[in-house]
Amino acid sequence: MNDNGLRETVVRAFAERFGAPPAFVARAPGRVNLIGEHTDYSGGFVLPMAIDRAVWIALRPRADSRVSVASLDFGETGEFDLGRLESAGGGWLEYVRGMAWALGDELALRGWEGVASGDVPKGAGLSSSAALELAAARAFAAVSGIDWDARRMALLAQRAENGWVGVRCGIMDQMISAAGEAGHALLIDCRSLETRPVPLPPGTAVVVMDTGTRRGLVDSEYNERRRATEVAAERLGVPALRDVDVATLESRAAELDPVTLRRARHVVGENERTLAAAAALERGDAAEVGRLVDLSHASLRDDFQVSRRELDAIVELAQAHPACFGARMTGAGFGGCAVALVERSAADDFARKVGDAYRAAVGLEPRVYVCAAAPGASIEEVR
Ligand code: GLA
Repeated sequence: MNDNGLRETVVRAFAERFGAPPAFVARAPGRVNLIGEHTDYSGGFVLPMAIDRAVWIALRPRADSRVSVASLDFGETGEFDLGRLESAGGGWLEYVRGMAWALGDELALRGWEGVASGDVPKGAGLSSSAALELAAARAFAAVSGIDWDARRMALLAQRAENGWVGVRCGIMDQMISAAGEAGHALLIDCRSLETRPVPLPPGTAVVVMDTGTRRGLVDSEYNERRRATEVAAERLGVPALRDVDVATLESRAAELDPVTLRRARHVVGENERTLAAAAALERGDAAEVGRLVDLSHASLRDDFQVSRRELDAIVELAQAHPACFGARMTGAGFGGCAVALVERSAADDFARKVGDAYRAAVGLEPRVYVCAAAPGASIEEVR
């Protein structure tokens, strides 16, 4: 369903439920990362774009301190009081509650009630949770009279995820959902949080390929990879792997055990590839971007070891199509989606052929779709 369809859906459901139109409609997008994977928590570089799939919330303020959200996707209503925040152990409402917890630490919040729905697939590596966090942040900011500062809101959403939900994620997903720009990917320096919009080359399309697998074990594996990068930085005597270049790492390779060295090799190389890819995008050099994207996949598969058979399969099928500049797994890994940069005029043929070949080879039902680069989280006042 496209954006406007979902906007209408939540507005209509709100009117049916509350007998009046909403005061606001909040929207926050999911994302696909073009390159720069597992670099954000080392203070490195990432190059994601916000996609035209989002979480939408139609809402109005309440006079008291309650928050009440009806999820059309889960078919249930979640409620809590801002004065008594207690984790109810998992589920979609924890992202809203966690956002209230992080925001409420610094800002005075008011209650609200609303209806939410989204079309970011869940658990696929397209950041449905960051989208829900930022949509909730937009809702809280609107009813509480808080100015929107994308960077600050992204940091608070990351704090909600780290401190409330309990996932040690980096800043990429929240930052791109908060600050994405239409038609552009965003080069994010995850240390300074400076961003640079980078246009997608004319005549190209970004295609997301969902393998139909969902990540198991992702939290423990994610934390273990993150720990390895921290160990590498400690051994090398730097604050984070961001502070090491490829030549330095290779000259000091003997100081790291073999597994830690492979993890570090991925991160350090990926930072260089990401900066090179941003420069190539700015020159409109899709072939060079594609080459770097292919290298990123090989590095994630062989050195960082967060790919899996189905991701490798769909990436190889994509790379074999003549219209494909490059393809790689995207997101944390262990399942979910891959991404490809392809010639726009052949995108439909690409989607059909890769989908058919994947189904035949792997026996799972893939979902392959062209994504547009959407703007970051927004709020609309309904008059
Ligand atoms: C997840 C995390 C991000 C980032 C990616 C890997 O999406 O939430 O912070 O670490 O994995 O690049």
